[in-house]
Parts: sequence; structure tokens; C-alpha cells
Amino acid sequence: MNLPILSAAPLTMRALVQSDYGGAAALKVAEVPTPTLTPGAVLVRVMSAALNRGDWHLLTGTPYAVRLAGYGLLRPTRPIPGMAIAGRVVAVGAGVSGFVPGDEVLGEINRGGFAEWVCVEPSALAKKPAGLSFEQAATLPVSATTALQGLRDAGQLKAGESLLVIGAAGGVGGFAVQLGRHLGAEVTGVCSAKNVAGVRALGAHHVINYSDERLGEHKGRFDVILDMVGAEPLHSLRGLLKPGGRLVSGSGGQDNALFGPMIPIFRGLLSNLGSTERFVPLMNKPTVADLELLCGLVASGAVTPDISDRLGLEALPEVLDHMGEGRTRGKVVVNLSADSPRSPR
Ligand SMILES: NC(=O)c1ccc[n+]([C@@H]2O[C@H](COP(=O)([O-])OP(=O)(O)OC[C@H]3O[C@@H](n4cnc5c(N)ncnc54)[C@H](OP(=O)(O)O)[C@@H]3O)[C@@H](O)[C@H]2O)c1
Repeated sequence: MNLPILSAAPLTMRALVQSDYGGAAALKVAEVPTPTLTPGAVLVRVMSAALNRGDWHLLTGTPYAVRLAGYGLLRPTRPIPGMAIAGRVVAVGAGVSGFVPGDEVLGEINRGGFAEWVCVEPSALAKKPAGLSFEQAATLPVSATTALQGLRDAGQLKAGESLLVIGAAGGVGGFAVQLGRHLGAEVTGVCSAKNVAGVRALGAHHVINYSDERLGEHKGRFDVILDMVGAEPLHSLRGLLKPGGRLVSGSGGQDNALFGPMIPIFRGLLSNLGSTERFVPLMNKPTVADLELLCGLVASGAVTPDISDRLGLEALPEVLDHMGEGRTRGKVVVNLSADSPRSPR
């Protein structure tokens, strides 16, 4: 039985709309029709959404391979960006079970998150525990699931092993440092000078400031490397592994505008031939079970999302445009309820 709508959605809503591939000029905040609830879907009032580097890839349409993945060859087919949301279910479509209006949820969605309302498939959503804020919950889809799957599944990280996180100050890396520690590893984070204290505060046992210290000085030291930057040559990273170590690669770098990470992944897999060390490509797979696990870790205090900025929709074009520079610290969230906190800009 479907329950009635908790609070009727208005006919129009505020959203960030992307008219083209490009930079900030391709984005504008506009009043657009509120999505209609369809059978098998739920209508969510988005309270917070998190920015991800993937939003920047879909803003610029690079690498070009992303356009072929159904996002639109010449211009975006789904014009509202935003893939990581937390909010409240306001209505459930015909045939939906397991959700009722009023449920607080989080999830990774196929665009549409930088808007006040979104219609999504319930299979994308986990229930948000009361102890988490909407902002905290919005940081978990994409970044925290990537970090978890990178360490637990791709890296097969075990307690007592040594872990190197490259990109430790970023969205994925900040979670990886905390999860690595939670899994019982000895964690070394790599970041620039300005983020050394922050990465240490996340729980890293050791921090390498890449402006001062070369990674090559740490040959044969790590069981698992999670590389979320893609700037170091493959042979240098392999040299940092202990025998039997795993190099988990989550980023192909920015070099190849056509194919993105595909060529580095191919090279990495080839390098496994005749070697006891493994190159393992990482591809985040959204699962409700992992979101629930991560919610539990945040609720228990084992993991604390590192929220570096809180924005309103108006600030998004400029901030998203700059994400490709790779200087974002922690997670940036956009708040979509009128009374939500925003950092002064
Ligand atoms: N495979 C997947 O499923 C998956 C999922 C999510 C993201 N990704 C990809 O993974 C990458 C990271 O994502 P993210 O969301 O964590 O990005 P992000 O939040 O934009 O990461 C930015 C961070 O990268 C750090 N950084 C830049 N150059 C560095 C270097 N040479 N060494 C160490 N750290 C460096 C910066 O720290 P400093 O300023 O201190 O240098 C900054 O804090 C992106 O390429 C993204 O597309 C892949």
C-alpha cells in the first residue's frame, strides 16, 4: 500500500542547470519544474548534496569517453548535476516497498542532486540514522564508498598492514585515511604542506609532504597503496610496495582527455605479468549495504566526514569549475533547505 504524500511538492523548484559542456558559464541557478513522481520511484526533498570530482568531469565533458557513457555527446542529456544526496522521502510511487514518506535517506544517483527535489529509484537509497546530519550523510555516497571498496575489496587491506594514501587531503583520501586506521592499518598520507596538520588530525600515523619529500625514499615499505591522484609513474609506485603488495589505482590522472584512465589501467594490468605485486583498478560500485556500514561508522564516531565548505546553490558554478584543479580539501557540501548553514564566502 502506498502512503499519501507527506507534504506536497511545489510545481517549480530551484536547481543548478547545466546547458552545455564547459566551465562556470555553462551553469546557472534556475527555477525549473519539480520532477514528477513516477511508478517504482520515490520523490526526495534534497537537504544536502556533496560535490564530487565526477561532477567536474560531467561539467567539462572530459574525458570525452564520459559523453559516450550516456551523458550526451554534444550537451548533457541530464541537465541538473549532483550525484551524492541526503534528504527526506516525501512521496513513494506505485509498487515501491521499504520506504515511507518521512524517511531520511542518502544515496548515489545518476545526476539531479543539485536541486531541491529529485525523483530516484529506491534501490539507490539507504536510510539515514538520526545521529547523522544531512550534510554528513551527503558526503558518504561516492567518496566514502570508493575509499571503503578501495581498501577492503580492491586492496584486501588487513589489520597490521601498512597503507599509503596518495591524495589523503581530498574527498576520497580523507575517508581512506580514517577507514585505513579503523581497519587496523598503519596509515601514511601524502599531501601538500598546507594539509599536513589536517591529514594528521584525520588519524594518519605518518604524513608525507610531497613538496619536501620524494615518495621514492620509501621503497618497499607498503602493503597497500591507494592512489587517488595518478601523478606518480607506475614503476615508481610499484617500487614502494612490499612483495605481494597491492597498488589500487582510483584515478588515471588528468592527462588523457579522450579516454581518461583507460590507458593507465591497461598499462597497470600489463605490469602484473610475472609480478607478485598487483595493480588493481578501482571503480566505485554504489551499494546500500556499504552506505549502511559507513553510516554506522559515522554514527559510532569511528569516521568523521571532513567538511571543508558549506555552500548555497549560487556559489556552485564557480566552485565546481575549480574542482578540476585538484586542490579541494575534504568534502564540500551544498545545502538546499533555506534554513541550512552555509560558510560565509
Ligand atoms: N575510481 C573511482 O571509482 C573514483 C571515485 C571517486 C573519485 N575518483 C577519482 O579520484 C580522484 C580523487 O577524487 P577526490 O574526490 O578525492 O578528489 P578531490 O577531493 O578533488 O581531491 C583533491 C585532493 O587531491 C590532493 N592532491 C592533488 N595533487 C596531489 C599530489 N600530487 N599528491 C597528493 N595529493 C594530491 C589535493 O591535496 P593537496 O592540495 O594537499 O595536494 C586535494 O586535497 C579524482 O580523479 C576522481 O575523479 C575515482
